[in-house]
Amino acid sequence: MGKNSLTRRDFMRLGAGAAALGAAAKVTVLEPSTLWASPRPVPPSDTIRFGIIGTGVEGCSLLHSTLPISGVECVAAADLYDSRHIAAKEALGGKEIETTRDYRRILDRKDIDAVIVATPDHWHRKAVIDVVEAGKDIYCEKPMSHSVEDGLAMVEAIQKNKKMCTVGSQRVSSILYHKAKEIWDSGKLGMVDTIMAAWDRNTDSGAWVYPIPPDANDKTIDWNTWLGEAPKRPYDVVRFFRWRCYKDYGAGLAGDLFVHLLSGIHHITGTNMPPQRALSTGNLYHYKDGREFPDLLWTMYDYPNYQLVLRCNHNNSEEGEFFGFYGKKGTMTIRGSTLTFKPQGPYETPEDYSVFGWPAKLRNEYYAKWWKDHPAPEPGKFQVKEDEEVYTPPPGYSDMTDHLANFFHSVRTRQPVVENEVFGHHTAIGCHMSNQSYFTKTVAVWDPGTRKIKS
Ligand SMILES: NC(=O)c1ccc[n+]([C@@H]2O[C@H](COP(=O)([O-])OP(=O)(O)OC[C@H]3O[C@@H](n4cnc5c(N)ncnc54)[C@H](O)[C@@H]3O)[C@@H](O)[C@H]2O)c1
Repeated sequence: MGKNSLTRRDFMRLGAGAAALGAAAKVTVLEPSTLWASPRPVPPSDTIRFGIIGTGVEGCSLLHSTLPISGVECVAAADLYDSRHIAAKEALGGKEIETTRDYRRILDRKDIDAVIVATPDHWHRKAVIDVVEAGKDIYCEKPMSHSVEDGLAMVEAIQKNKKMCTVGSQRVSSILYHKAKEIWDSGKLGMVDTIMAAWDRNTDSGAWVYPIPPDANDKTIDWNTWLGEAPKRPYDVVRFFRWRCYKDYGAGLAGDLFVHLLSGIHHITGTNMPPQRALSTGNLYHYKDGREFPDLLWTMYDYPNYQLVLRCNHNNSEEGEFFGFYGKKGTMTIRGSTLTFKPQGPYETPEDYSVFGWPAKLRNEYYAKWWKDHPAPEPGKFQVKEDEEVYTPPPGYSDMTDHLANFFHSVRTRQPVVENEVFGHHTAIGCHMSNQSYFTKTVAVWDPGTRKIKS
C-alpha cells in the first residue's frame, strides 16, 4: 500500500477527527428581506393608528421597535406611573402623543385600530377583553394569561369579537426561527425524540431585582388601580417594579422565560397544543428576598411525539439561551443568535465493541466479511462531507420589529397572524403546568376534556 493511501478505517477516523475539529463551517447570514415582515411601502391612507396600555420596560421597548415599520403610528399611551408617560414619548423619538392613566380614553378613540397590552400579567385578561370589546385588534404581551381560566376567557372574547390577536413572544417571527422551522420541516433531523432548552442568567437584573426610580411614590403611581383584581394591600414599590417575583401578578421563571422557549419550540415543531404532562423541580437558592418563585426551575414535558426538558437558572449563565433538537439523523441547536445543524450518520462501520467477546477466529471472519461487503473507495475518491450548516441573522436584526410588523400587516390585511390567541393560550398553559407541578410537587396533567390542569 502506498505511503499516502488510506485504509477505509483510517478514512473513517480522519472523517471523525475532522468533524471533531469542527472544520470551520461556513456561516450563512440570513436575509431579512426574504421575509414578508420586512419593510414594505404603505400608502398614507392605510396607516394603522395604535395605542398602548402599559409603557414600562417592555412597553417602551415595543414602542421603539415600531419606529422602522412603515404605515403605523402610535397616537396614545396609558400607564399608571406618570414618569412612564414621558418614557413612552421618548421611546417614540420625542413624538407628542396623548398620555393618560385611564386606558378607557384610548379605547374610546375612534381613530385607533389596534392596542398593545404590555401590563404585568395579572392585568392581561381584563385589558385584552376590554380592547376587543371596544372593537380594536390586540397585541398582548407574553405570557398571554395569568391562569388557564384567564386564557380561556381571552380566547373566547377575541374570537367572539372577531379580532386579530398576536401574542408577544417575538421569536416566532424571527428569521432565525423560521430557518430552524425550515430545517425541522425538511425532515433532515430524522425522528426527534428529545428537545432541550435553557435560558440561564446570572445578574440581579436577570433575576428581576430592578432598581427603583427615585420619583416613584404613591402620588406618581396609581397603586390601587395597578392591583386590579389582585388582593388589596398597601402601596408597595417593590411589588410594583419587581412584580415577576409574586404569584398575584406574575408567573416567575415559567411565565417570564419558559414561555419564550415553549413558543419557539411550538413554532419550530408545528405544535399547537398544551403539553400532556409536566414534572417540575427546582429551588430558591440565592434570591431570598421575599419572592415566591424559585431561582432554579426544571420542567420535563410530555408531548405526543417528543419529550421536552426546560431549565432556567438565575445563578449561572454559561448556557445562556439554548435550544437543542436531537434527531436520529442530526442535531439542531440554537445558541443565542447562532443556528447550527449537524448531521449524524449513517454509520457504515463494522462492530468493534461486542465482537471482542468472540473468539478471534469468528471475529476475524466477521471483519473479513464486513470489509468484503463494504469495499473502501478507490484511492483519490475519498469524500469528506462538510455538511454542518450554520446560520445567523445580520447585525442589528430585531425579531421584535418583525413580530410587530407581522401583527400590523395582519391588522391591515386580515391575514392570519403568526402567533394567535390559541397558540399563545397553549404555550401559557405549559407555563402554568410547570408552576403547578413545582408548587404541588406532583405531575401536572392537562385534561383537554375539562380544559383544566389536574395534579
Ligand atoms: N416579549 C418579551 O420579550 C417581554 C420582555 C419583557 C416583558 N414582557 C412582558 O411585558 C409585560 C410587561 O412587563 P414589563 O417588564 O414592561 O413590566 P413593567 O412593570 O416595567 O411595566 C408594566 C407597566 O404597566 C402599567 N400598568 C399596569 N396596569 C395598568 C393599567 N391597568 N392601565 C395602564 N397601565 C398599567 C404599569 O404602571 C407599568 O408601568 C409582561 O406581561 C411581561 O411578561 C415581554
